[in-house]
Amino acid sequence: MSKLFIAGEVFHGAGSLEELKNVKGKKAVLVTGGGSMKKSGTLDKAIAYLNEAGIETKTYEGVEEDPSSETCFKGAELMKDFQPDWIVGIGGCSAIDAAKMMWVFYEYPDADFDAMIKPFSVPVLRQKAKFVAIPSTSGTGTETTGLAVITDREKGVKYPIVSYELTPDIAIIDGEICASMPAHVTSNTGLDALTHSVEAYVSNIDNNFADALSKGGLKIVFDNLKEAVKNPDNITARQNMHDASFMGGLAFNNAWLGIVHSLSHQVGALFGVPHGACNAIFLPNVIRFNEKESSRFPDLAKVIGKETAEDLAQAIETLRSEVNNQSAIKEFGISREDWDKNLDFMANNAFLDPCTGFNPRKPTVEELKEIYNACYEGLVYTESKVLDAAL
Ligand SMILES: [Fe+2]
Repeated sequence: MSKLFIAGEVFHGAGSLEELKNVKGKKAVLVTGGGSMKKSGTLDKAIAYLNEAGIETKTYEGVEEDPSSETCFKGAELMKDFQPDWIVGIGGCSAIDAAKMMWVFYEYPDADFDAMIKPFSVPVLRQKAKFVAIPSTSGTGTETTGLAVITDREKGVKYPIVSYELTPDIAIIDGEICASMPAHVTSNTGLDALTHSVEAYVSNIDNNFADALSKGGLKIVFDNLKEAVKNPDNITARQNMHDASFMGGLAFNNAWLGIVHSLSHQVGALFGVPHGACNAIFLPNVIRFNEKESSRFPDLAKVIGKETAEDLAQAIETLRSEVNNQSAIKEFGISREDWDKNLDFMANNAFLDPCTGFNPRKPTVEELKEIYNACYEGLVYTESKVLDAAL
C-alpha cells in the first residue's frame, strides 16, 4: 500500500485566487517576497478575498531569494503575536518555502533547525494553523510538495527540508498571477519544472501516478515555455506552465528527484546561480550520465517526438537556448579559481544531498566532480572525454 501525497485541495485556472473567499477561519498571516505581489495588486486582492471570508489578516513582506533560517524565525515571531489559524504563502517559491518553515517555528518555537535537516524530522503540524500556497512562478511546485529549501549562508549550504507535514492544505494555481513574472524568471522556473518531470520519471521509485504526471508535465513545458517567455500576456500559456509546474511538483513529491538537484543546490548556495538555470545546465549531462543505468529515457523522449536519451538531452539544450538560458556555469561570472577552490566541498555536499539517494545511477564523489567540471565549461559529458580533458 502506498499513499499519494498531494495538497489537500487544489484550485486551478485563471482567476482561481478568488477561492480565498471560501476559506473558513479567523486570522491569516500572508507571507510574501520582494514586492511584486504588492505591485501587481495580487496581494491586495488576496487580502480582500480573505476579509470577505471574515478573516483578519497580517502580512509578512520581504522574504529574500533563497531564504535563511533567520527569516523563518522572524516570521514565526509575528505569527506568535497574532496567532493565525491560516498561513498563506503567496509569491515565488522563496516566499512559500519560508512561510512553510515559519509555520513550523510558529507551532514549535523551540524546534531545532539543524535537527530538521534530516528528512522527515519535522514534527506534526496543524496544531495551530493550516497552510495555503499561491505560487506566482511556475517551477518548483512547492504548492503541492513536502519540501522547503532553506539556505545557511554562513555554511554556504542549501538545505532541502523534507517532510510530508509541509504539503499545503490548499493550493491555488492561478496563471493570471504570473503575468508580471519577468521573462528570465519564466524561463528559469519553467526549466526547473521540466527538470522535476525528468528526474521524477527516472528516479529509483516506481510510481504510476508520478510517471503520468511527469510525461504530461514534460509535454506541456515543451509546448508552452517558449510562448510564455516571448508573450508574457498570453494567459493560456501562463496557465499551462503553472499546471505543468504543479504536475512536476506532484510527480517528485511522490517519486523524488536526482543528482541534477543535488548538484544545483550547492552552486545555488555558494554562488547564487538561480536554481532553474543551474538545473537546465546540469540536466542534459546528467541524462548522459544516468543513461547507463536507466532504460526509461527513450520512453520519455517519445513524449516530445524523439527516440533516445541523447535526443532528449539535445532537445533540452535546444529549448534552453531558445528561452535564453545559459549553457555553462562559467557564464555566471564564476572564476575558474573560485570554482576549483570549492569543487571538493560542492561534490561532497552533493553526494550527501537527500536527492542523490533517488538517482537511478549511484554516483561517486569523483563522478560528481566530472559532471561539475563539464557543466562549468559547457562541455558535453562523456566519461572518456571528460577524463581525457582532465589528463
Ligand atoms: Fe527544483
